[in-house]
Amino acid sequence: MNTNLTKKISLQSLRLTFRFILPLVAALALLAFAIVPVVEKLIFYWFIRDMDVQSKFITGTIQEPIVELLQKGNATKINSLLMNAIKEERLYALGYCNREGKLVYRTKNFPRHLGCKLPGSDAGKPQSLLHLPQGPVHVAINSVEQYGNPAGSLVILQDMSFVERRSDDTKKYVVALFVVIAVVISVITVFIAHISWRGWMDGMRALLRGEGLIRPFSQPTTSELQPLVGDLRTLLRTFETERRFADDVTVSWTPEALRDLLRKQLAGERILVVSNREPYIHRRGKAGIEVNRPASGLVTAIEPVMRACSGIWIAHGSGSADRETVDRNDLVPVPPDHPEYTLRRIWLTKEEEIGYYYGFANEGLWPLCHIAHVRPIFRSNDWKHYVEINRRFAEAVVRESSTDDPVVLVQDYHFALLPKMIRKALPKATVITFWHIPWPNPESFGICPWREELLLGMLGSTILGFHTRLHCNNFLATVDRYLETRIEYESSTIHNRGKLTLVESYPISIQWPSPLHQKLPPPEVCRAEVQRSHGFDEEMMIGVGVDRLDYTKGILERLRAVERLLEIHPEMIGRFTFIQIAAPSRSSLEDYQSLDNQVRALATRINERFSTYSYQPICLKLEHHEPEVVNSYYRAADVCMVTSLHDGMNLVAKEFVAAREDEQGVLVLSQFTGAAQELHEALIVNPYHIEQTADALYRALTMPDYEQKERMRSMRSLVRDFNVYRWAGRMLIDASRIRQREKLAGRIGERYEG
Ligand code: G6P
Repeated sequence: MNTNLTKKISLQSLRLTFRFILPLVAALALLAFAIVPVVEKLIFYWFIRDMDVQSKFITGTIQEPIVELLQKGNATKINSLLMNAIKEERLYALGYCNREGKLVYRTKNFPRHLGCKLPGSDAGKPQSLLHLPQGPVHVAINSVEQYGNPAGSLVILQDMSFVERRSDDTKKYVVALFVVIAVVISVITVFIAHISWRGWMDGMRALLRGEGLIRPFSQPTTSELQPLVGDLRTLLRTFETERRFADDVTVSWTPEALRDLLRKQLAGERILVVSNREPYIHRRGKAGIEVNRPASGLVTAIEPVMRACSGIWIAHGSGSADRETVDRNDLVPVPPDHPEYTLRRIWLTKEEEIGYYYGFANEGLWPLCHIAHVRPIFRSNDWKHYVEINRRFAEAVVRESSTDDPVVLVQDYHFALLPKMIRKALPKATVITFWHIPWPNPESFGICPWREELLLGMLGSTILGFHTRLHCNNFLATVDRYLETRIEYESSTIHNRGKLTLVESYPISIQWPSPLHQKLPPPEVCRAEVQRSHGFDEEMMIGVGVDRLDYTKGILERLRAVERLLEIHPEMIGRFTFIQIAAPSRSSLEDYQSLDNQVRALATRINERFSTYSYQPICLKLEHHEPEVVNSYYRAADVCMVTSLHDGMNLVAKEFVAAREDEQGVLVLSQFTGAAQELHEALIVNPYHIEQTADALYRALTMPDYEQKERMRSMRSLVRDFNVYRWAGRMLIDASRIRQREKLAGRIGERYEG
């Protein structure tokens, strides 16, 4: 336990307690001083009343004998009667006045100046009090009657010094009582303050961990904080938003900025990335071992981040020469020509690959998450392999992490179960899961037989990222539908069995500036080269589409739009060629084979319709192309078509924009991509609407240069500012914020747990 911290907390607690007790004691002292005179006065009047009654009683007792002795005129006996009467302790003196008001008999100590009137009666204010040198006396004058007629009056003086004595005693009792009350209240206050302070600290701890943000108000553990939860929550959120905003606007996101962030905010943490697809694939080719870069948006985005941050990337070793190129720990430094980080390869048997990758991931989850009207297929055997492979990757994460609290970036739908498995083995790990594809609505997701297991697996993440807010909301709604958790929509957090997951949108992007910027010739040179290699004349307008050959990409719809364009605008025949680059993907699956056939058949039919001996409108290039080649097509094109039927983000759209340093070229973009939420200056289309897409294509091909420039400039500045370093940086900033919060909460916790 941190003793300094403990001392500080105790001191703070004492200080807070005294801040309350001192005013309380002062208030009680004031009260005591104010109340004592009142009590004194009250007691005094009680005694006066008591003495009035007493004097009436004395008069009643001696009235009869005195009247009798008066009749007999026996003065001696009258004097002795009076003297006997004042033997009573409190009776000081007695006097008898005749009917004419003249003092005729009196005891020895009867003050001569008093006579038969109450003191002060001359001044019109008769007093029952007389101050004698011996002390105060009470004076009462009661009439004495004979047969109902006044016969004289008896002047009775009673000693009052005992009243003063009693009053002094009472004062002491009152003060003592207040002191006792003050002590009792103080003790109770200290006790309650201590308990409250503990409650506050527990509540604050929960709040810092984020639990307070979602705990319902009825929860007992944060009851002390409950009146303030709303305010604290708003304060924390404002602080976080401001901090995020400040980070966003002040940081210009570059590889250096990202490295700096890791160094400063994550204590130089080496990050671990897990994905199915590896960034470099070694294959045995005709000329020996070749290195390929896969067509994968995920790899495009993560690779520059890893280069900036170094660390370890764990992925499936899928290349035919992958085993030959790793060391005995299955590690290989990459990029091969200039290593900047380490690739750790995981091996799968053919059967495992079929079950986990082709089966559950790509025949089940992929169509489940994309609205592309391809039915998902779920098989128990595929699920079994999916669980098993997730476990194998989790073991690799544990083996490769050098601390007990690593930062792990889990990528995509191949690893929905991994976050929970990592958390189980490394409870202090920060797991950032990014789901690169869309998340469907609860009804669509609900058809998966293992929906609960998948959701619980994902909730092992500290942060769960999607491209858009819509996908986050779909996820929250799905969890709400199928799991018993506490969800707070306002802060987008899910609390599941003591673990908090932040569900946030992080729109992915690409590297800026593009690494190919320096390597490739300028756009006009690329254009001339493409025209030359395809045998086009100089005036030929070029459209490009770059995708994996996947049914979600809307390639058929795109080709139909090209066909429609040529139908509506026959002047474009011979003047416009569309080049479709499509890397074969998941080709052993039936749906992909069928798509391949359909694309080829459609292109052939369109070409047959509009070809001349020197012209064909569609050029299909259904093979893998390295990024440099793809980029030179982007640069050569007048228009790039991205017509996905459903896509998490689609980085081709951003790559095209980044490639156009000449600020020319038009992007036709499907409204069903995440990119359409950012690239507003593209011509946004519904790819299912063939005429609308054909119109947009025509508009793109006839768009004046100045308009192209304006649109392209605006999109380029967005991609420049919202580049992939910012994407990773925002996630890592959020991760570091959560780590700091958990550490702080842990430290506060030690105070009570230690
Ligand atoms: C999508 C997925 C990636 C995947 C890529 C290529 O972009 O989100 O996870 O790597 O497609 O697919 P493949 O199956 O070839 O890895």
